[in-house]
Amino acid sequence: MSKDFRIAPSILSANFAKLGEEVDNVLKSGADIVHFDVMDNHYVPNLTIGPLVCEALKKHGVTAPIDVHLMVKPVDRIIPDFAKAGATYITFHPEASEHIDRSIALIRECGCKPGLVFNPATPLDVLEYTLDKIDMVLLMSVNPGFGGQKFIPYVLDKARKVRQMIDARGLNVSLEIDGGVGPANILEVARAGVDTFVAGSAVFGAAKDSDPHRYDTVIGALRAELAKA
Ligand code: DX5
Ligand code: ZN
Repeated sequence: MSKDFRIAPSILSANFAKLGEEVDNVLKSGADIVHFDVMDNHYVPNLTIGPLVCEALKKHGVTAPIDVHLMVKPVDRIIPDFAKAGATYITFHPEASEHIDRSIALIRECGCKPGLVFNPATPLDVLEYTLDKIDMVLLMSVNPGFGGQKFIPYVLDKARKVRQMIDARGLNVSLEIDGGVGPANILEVARAGVDTFVAGSAVFGAAKDSDPHRYDTVIGALRAELAKA
């Protein structure tokens, strides 16, 4: 199993009034990737941020990979806009695209890394045909739409399954998990084969206004747990 673990704070739980500074602070505190949740009030019952905000972060000077998690339907229209805005990964939910292969190819053609996202109860069958064409599998461990929900434990079995598929085919595909992850459960998630960990409320909820590097403690706690894997 890969020991190359990556921590991806979800900016959904950041203070949007000072987003650039928030992203700078989590990266300075040791985060690896910026997880960017895009919600459309159609595929999911919430509305968040789009390509303009991604572009603003790039212009602000963010050089870490930006992991754009599309919770929108349809997906194809917005893919080139996110590519132009500086996205690194673009992941989408297969049930939100009529033509999954085409959406994956479009993300690749635009110069980004494609990934597929599976809701907790969504089966993995499309991976049979797509795993060798993508760079990331993202497993939702909550139902998408909101931060701060409780981790759904049966997704651990799913993670083990995907890890086995990736390894059996000798592929270099990241396995990411999203929802309800924090210092108390990140170790068992890592032991299930996950290498990239989204954490929204666990990271940004640890903010203390008195400390300019205020995310060091929580990101350090996540890393300390991962070191045991
Ligand atoms: C939920 C989003 C998540 C969310 C995770 O639809 O995809 O990225 O921000 O938040 P926490 O870590 O608080 O569960
Ligand atoms: Zn997400």
